[in-house]
Amino acid sequence: MPAMGSRRTERHRCRECGAEYPKWAGQCSACRHWNTLEPATESDGTALRDTASGPVQLDDPRAAPAARPQPTSLDELDRVLDGGLVPGSVTLLGGAPGIGKSTLMLQLLAAWDGPTLYVAAEESAPQIRDRAQRLDIDRTSIWVHATTSLTSAIEAIEGRAAGRMTDRPSVVVVDSIQTVADPHIGGVAGGVTQVRACAQQLVDVAKASNVAIVLVGHVTKDGNLAGPNTLEHVVDTVLHFEGDHHHSLRQLRASKHRFGSTNELGVFEMTPRGLEPVADPSAVLLADRRHGIPGSVIVPTVEGRRAIVVEVQALTNPTPHGASARRSSQGLDGRRIAMVLAVLERRARVGLGDLDVYASAAGGLAITEPACDLGIAVAVASARLDAPVSSRVAVCGEVGLGGEIRQVGALERRIAEARRLECTRIIVPSTALGPGSGDDVVGVETIGQALAAAGVTDDVHALRAV
Ligand code: TYD
Ligand code: MG
Repeated sequence: MPAMGSRRTERHRCRECGAEYPKWAGQCSACRHWNTLEPATESDGTALRDTASGPVQLDDPRAAPAARPQPTSLDELDRVLDGGLVPGSVTLLGGAPGIGKSTLMLQLLAAWDGPTLYVAAEESAPQIRDRAQRLDIDRTSIWVHATTSLTSAIEAIEGRAAGRMTDRPSVVVVDSIQTVADPHIGGVAGGVTQVRACAQQLVDVAKASNVAIVLVGHVTKDGNLAGPNTLEHVVDTVLHFEGDHHHSLRQLRASKHRFGSTNELGVFEMTPRGLEPVADPSAVLLADRRHGIPGSVIVPTVEGRRAIVVEVQALTNPTPHGASARRSSQGLDGRRIAMVLAVLERRARVGLGDLDVYASAAGGLAITEPACDLGIAVAVASARLDAPVSSRVAVCGEVGLGGEIRQVGALERRIAEARRLECTRIIVPSTALGPGSGDDVVGVETIGQALAAAGVTDDVHALRAV
């Protein structure tokens, strides 16, 4: 087949994940899908670009750092962005439908110091105006361009659109990248080819016009932004807006950030007046806490530069006859819970057979760091033994398979935050303790010692205060 010969030597791109290859292959080695490689045509705008400037030395002015970030005036957003939005950069904001992406973006534009443009490809201008009214936003400062045409959006960004728009915007929101389409390219809006091509063109526009562009993207059921690898490589920054629909707390995290760290967590609360920054998440997370209930313990966690105290809760209940034991978790890492339960049984003799175990981080904040292990262990043991832990006790430490308590980072910040929230006994890994930690700090070496220090078992002989 003669056509096949040329097809095999052309540049190809995977329809599923966007990975590129110098020649055709049956399987995409990036996403492992079969028969998804197609010839990569220049017209879709995603062909590799030639960088004409040639090599430079690192101290050459041409290698000078990119522009500095401009603060957005939304503190929690600036925290995650490490200062703000960088002119000429493209940020992808992903999140489940209804989580509050459009609300956050409207608030961003309202707070922005400079001309702004909202490319509304999902909602009409009256709908956006309605939302702005509910958010009490001064609507004159924001230009809305309701279009699904990428060409028309780019004209507006570059100040070439017909109409009264006078200033060229310094920040642009495209809501959403899945609903804009380039009429010159095949494929449906929201398909990998369209999404990738549109994002690439917007990246080029951002660079050329030195405008900061934020693309709103819906996450698919498996948590990917418009398909794996599709956009993450194209943009400078990837933000995830998450939260439990039944809670008002929303978390903003970065998984990629070319201009700073990706460690910081931004916390917002969805209120009738829109998203409010939560400067003191610990206070909000502990607000509903009830005292004297077994299965609850305070855990100081660390997110970036900020320590946040959460309440870890557990409940154990006999498994109905004939059913297999349930392990259910919310806001905590299910695999770590399974490991902690196994260690509790084997190393601390807390029997959990024939019991359903539920564990959660109360308040809807997701905590995945291993420093939370010991909190899970103490909460589960407390629930199992029906022995409440004092609300003045805080616990942190990673649990090893041998039942040993391992070091955690940023211990000083955890201790300080626990003290601020009036904890008077802070149980930590003894290996991490230096001299002069304070009388309220108790170092433990094993899970058994931790349970005793927390008052869950009365095996006081195991307790060794430092
Ligand atoms: P929205 O920003 O439209 O979500 P997304 O763009 O991520 O799909 O907001 C979704 C929800 O937020 C909506 O169901 C109503 C709620 N909401 C509030 O609770 N308070 C508000 O001030 C606004 C504007 C929305
Ligand atoms: Mg929306």
